[in-house]
Amino acid sequence: MGHLELENLEIRYGGVVVVTGFDLEVADGEMVSLLGPSGAGKTTVLKAVAGLVPLASGAIRIDGRPVQHLPPEKRAAVMVFQKPLLFPFMNVGQNVGFGLRAQGRLDGEAHRRIEAILEMVQLAGMGRRKVHELSGGQQQRVALARALVLKPAVLLLDEPLSSLDAALRQQMRDLIQAIQAATRLTTLFVTHDQAEALMMSHRVSLLLNGRLRQVGEPRQLFYRPADPEVARFFGGDNFFQGRVRGGCLETALGAFSVAAGEGNGHLRTATIRPEDIRLHPAARAPRGCVMGRVLRTAFEGIATRVWVESPGGTLVVLTSEGEDLRAGQAVALELPAARIRLFPPTGSHGA
Ligand SMILES: Nc1ncnc2c1ncn2[C@@H]1O[C@H](COP(=O)(O)OP(=O)(O)O)[C@@H](O)[C@H]1O
Ligand SMILES: [Mg+2]
Repeated sequence: MGHLELENLEIRYGGVVVVTGFDLEVADGEMVSLLGPSGAGKTTVLKAVAGLVPLASGAIRIDGRPVQHLPPEKRAAVMVFQKPLLFPFMNVGQNVGFGLRAQGRLDGEAHRRIEAILEMVQLAGMGRRKVHELSGGQQQRVALARALVLKPAVLLLDEPLSSLDAALRQQMRDLIQAIQAATRLTTLFVTHDQAEALMMSHRVSLLLNGRLRQVGEPRQLFYRPADPEVARFFGGDNFFQGRVRGGCLETALGAFSVAAGEGNGHLRTATIRPEDIRLHPAARAPRGCVMGRVLRTAFEGIATRVWVESPGGTLVVLTSEGEDLRAGQAVALELPAARIRLFPPTGSHGA
C-alpha cells in the first residue's frame, strides 16, 4: 500500500517561505510527476516527504497515518537523489543492501532480494563490482535499486535522469516506467522537463515559485492550462486580450466564436498554441485570416518556429512547412476558434 496525502504544506528555510499551500494526493500505485522550473521548490517538497526537511505547517499522511513527526527511516518514503551518492568503499551489492543492513534485515532472503532487484534494474550479476567501475547510468540504477530493495510505500525520485545523455535518458525513462508499472509503487517523480513529465506519469503537478498551480492528467495540463502562466510554462507563447460580445471574443486579431458560457461584456485573455496556428501564403489566404509579416524564423528540426508581426502583437507559429519563409514576407495566419483558450483577465488569479 502507499496512499500519499500532502495537505497544506508550508516549508521554510531560515524563515524564508519556499513552498506554501501545497496540497497533493498520490493514489496507491500511481506515478505523479512534480514538474517545475529550477528553484520552484521541487526538491524541497520531496525532502519534506522523506523527512529530510521539517514542515513549518501542514500534514503528510501515508495510508492515512500522519508521518510528519516521524524520522526518515520510519516513514516508508524513500528518496533517490539527483546524484547517485553511492558509498565508494562498498561494492554494488553492499550499496544496494545498505538500508537493509542498517535496519538489521540483511539475512539470506535479503540477499536473494538484492539479486532480484539488481536484475530488475538490469544490473544482474554485477553485485561485486566496485561503484567506480560503473557508468553514470549504471550508478543511478544502483541508487534506484537501493531504494527499491527497501519496499517503500512511497518512492520519491528527484530528477534521477538529469545527468544522463539523451539516448540513455530515454532508456532510463522506459526502465523506470516499466519498474513502476510492474511493482505498482506509489511514485512522486520530480523533473524540470515537461516532455518527461507528460510521457512518464499518470498525472502531472506543476509547481511554480513554491505554489502548486495545476494537477491533472498530462493532456489536461497541456491543452487546458488553468491560467496563462501554466500555459506559458508548456510553451504557449501567444497571448492576446479581447472582450466577449454576442458569442464572440472581439480582439485585435479579429472575432472568434466562444463557448456559450462566456458572459457578455467580459474581458478575457486568450491563448493559442504555436502549433495550432496555420500559416498560409498572403496571396492565398482563406477567409478570416489575420495578416502579418515574418519577423524571423528558427529551424528546430521537426518544425520551424516563425515569429510573425500581427495587428495583435508578435505571434509565434510552429510549422512543418517553414523552409521558404523569409523575414519581411507577408503571410496569413489562420487561428481556429476551437483551439483558442480563454482565461479571466490577468491579475484575477492567485499569486
Ligand atoms: N538548504 C537550503 N537553505 C536555504 N535555501 C534553500 C535550501 N535549499 C533550497 N533552497 C532554496 O529554496 C528554493 C527551492 O529550492 P529547491 O527545492 O532545490 O528547488 P528545485 O528542486 O525546484 O530546483 C530555491 O530558492 C533555493 O535556493
Ligand atoms: Mg531540485
